[in-house]
Amino acid sequence: MLTLPPSKLPQVGTTIFTVMSRLAAECGAINLSQGFPDFDPPSRLLDLVTEKMRAGINQYAPMSGWPALLEAVAGKVRDLYGCVVDPQSAVTITSGATEALFCAVHAVVRPGDEVILLEPAYDSYQPAVELAGGRTVRVPLLRPGFGVDWDRVRTAVTARTRLLIVNSPHNPTGAVFAPSDLDALEDVLRDNDVLVLADEVYEHMVFDGRPHLSLLGRPALADRSFVVSSFGKTYHCTGWKVGYCVAPPALTGEFRKVHQFVQFAVAAPMQAAFAQFLVDCPGHAHALADFYQSKRDRFRDLLAATPLRAVPAAGTYFQLAEYSAVSRLPDVEFARWLTREIGVAAIPVSVFSTAPTEERVVRFCFAKNDATLDAAGARLSQLGVAGGLR
Ligand SMILES: Cc1ncc(COP(=O)(O)O)c(C=O)c1O
Repeated sequence: MLTLPPSKLPQVGTTIFTVMSRLAAECGAINLSQGFPDFDPPSRLLDLVTEKMRAGINQYAPMSGWPALLEAVAGKVRDLYGCVVDPQSAVTITSGATEALFCAVHAVVRPGDEVILLEPAYDSYQPAVELAGGRTVRVPLLRPGFGVDWDRVRTAVTARTRLLIVNSPHNPTGAVFAPSDLDALEDVLRDNDVLVLADEVYEHMVFDGRPHLSLLGRPALADRSFVVSSFGKTYHCTGWKVGYCVAPPALTGEFRKVHQFVQFAVAAPMQAAFAQFLVDCPGHAHALADFYQSKRDRFRDLLAATPLRAVPAAGTYFQLAEYSAVSRLPDVEFARWLTREIGVAAIPVSVFSTAPTEERVVRFCFAKNDATLDAAGARLSQLGVAGGLR
């Protein structure tokens, strides 16, 4: 009998996103759990991918990325955030933001290093840190509003801190950074060598006229940060898994040493198509905030007719809802019950935290056709009637 070595990630099972999507399919529930749209990418982008394949762009792309796409990303961060970078040495195209997050962590985190996470936190950060031999130090976000407790972050920094991971707009809470957050972050980093990994995959989904405050817009932060984004989120094609990382050349050099052995190169026709689409159709990204804001508002109006209480959501395509008027069940059980009995799947928010929580909050994804949202709203409006206080 073969004896397997102990698991390197003993706490990790199947992610809640897979579990809830599977349960939704089994129950015929409307799936507002996992974060992906139920509508297509722009048809011009689909045509471009086919055109690029037909034009023979089907072999390995360059390791760092399709040159025209590197240029397009550099142009975008210059135009939006005033950040001038050399596309050849500061931009890398990755297999989704997930790969970029993994490579950034592995580029700099060594055994014994500490990495500060703000909790609740997206689920891929912790395993990446653990596989690199690092240790996560968690700082809870403040309630209500899920702002960052910068004093606690400052206290959490030690001589062993290698990296601080931030995420704005924030999954799962929808909170976004204000200028004061970037001021505080600059202040926290002033007298140390702590690096930053900024997960900005929802950069084009900031609502109510507010701008997205990228770390790339602050030279003092850009100089020590990996800034990660995702074409999947912006262009409604999460299944293509294309993202990117912008970082100063010294950090990018280390990042690419990992990337070239994790992924080597990203799907060439998709990269060539994005390169052209970004230049030909910049309006898509610019219109995204309005597009998702109207979906947010529609979904919040639907929730207003239910006993669920929508938490303010300034960005992302997620809406948190507090359910204590409906049930006393812990959120994991409530999410399962909601899927089975009411026919709407959501994600329990406690899975984004390691600390136990008494909060009664679930996360819905509103990146859905209006008809899907309306149908979910109709089912959720049954809550008061069908659910009772459990
Ligand atoms: C905060 C956050 N970061 C990263 C990702 C991963 O992005 P990608 O699909 O491009 O790998 C997601 C996807 O849900 C996310 O919500």
